[in-house]
Amino acid sequence: MSERAFRSAVVPAAGLGTRFLPTTKTVPKELLPVVDTPGIELVAAEAAEAGAEQLLIVTSPGKDAVAAHFADSAELEKTLAERGKDALVAKVRRAHDLIAVRTVTQDQPLGLGHAIGCAREAIDPAEGAFAVLLPDDLVLPSGVLSTMARARAEKGGSVLCAFDIPREEIGAYGVFDVSDTDDPDVKQVHGMVEKPAPDEAPSTFAAAGRYLLDVAIFDAIDRITPGAGGELQVTDAIALLISEGHPVHVVVHRGGRHDLGNPGSYVRAFVDFALEHPDYGAELRAWLTARLAD
Ligand code: G1P
Repeated sequence: MSERAFRSAVVPAAGLGTRFLPTTKTVPKELLPVVDTPGIELVAAEAAEAGAEQLLIVTSPGKDAVAAHFADSAELEKTLAERGKDALVAKVRRAHDLIAVRTVTQDQPLGLGHAIGCAREAIDPAEGAFAVLLPDDLVLPSGVLSTMARARAEKGGSVLCAFDIPREEIGAYGVFDVSDTDDPDVKQVHGMVEKPAPDEAPSTFAAAGRYLLDVAIFDAIDRITPGAGGELQVTDAIALLISEGHPVHVVVHRGGRHDLGNPGSYVRAFVDFALEHPDYGAELRAWLTARLAD
């Protein structure tokens, strides 16, 4: 019998997107395009590719457009089909066909742990575990969730994705206290701390926006108090589980990563994807080369 690693993928998308104001007055940050495709569609594709059947978007009042991106678009498709634009029909359909989408509402911005806790009503405890994908983080190439699922099948408990980050940048992340296992890409986690001062960080391995969490996390989220930034942090719920003997491991991802969460790094992601794009890549490369030689 083949065992499904997880059925549900939670995408927290309730934030105000303040770093992208004024655009985010009316356009949710998750819908900003990476070349022509909203970041959240890239993340949904990653979840579907790893076997998820339902995408649970944690949203806040006023951000209905995020889920609407995954709705049926029969009218637009009909218009495009009548004009013979079959390639565009396929592009428009993709989000809807990827995965079933359901939204849950986070009424108050109480933190990532709280946002994940809001998904509890939509996850059957019998699922055992579920994935969380932070839509600000693109982890490249895709596939790390499948590696994490294999680690959970072997080790049990919860599995996260870690990147080795320069120490001077570590204070922006959840940071792991780790020891080696016999697999160089899998480490056992003994503790986790959210946004430590760089000289107090237990390692340079940081959480990178992909989590495979045992459903036991929901009870732990209920038991934590506000932490870094005055918010309910999923990092603190994971640390609580570890202290109670719940196994937690990380898969160290050696590939690339983009942060769509602020304009500076978003531009890098956009340019990186555009350079690889069959229609725009060559011309962009030539323009950039000339521009940088100015
Ligand atoms: C969140 C998590 C943090 C993690 C980071 C990855 O922080 O709280 O543990 O390392 O995402 O991007 P945020 O970026 O929301 O401050």
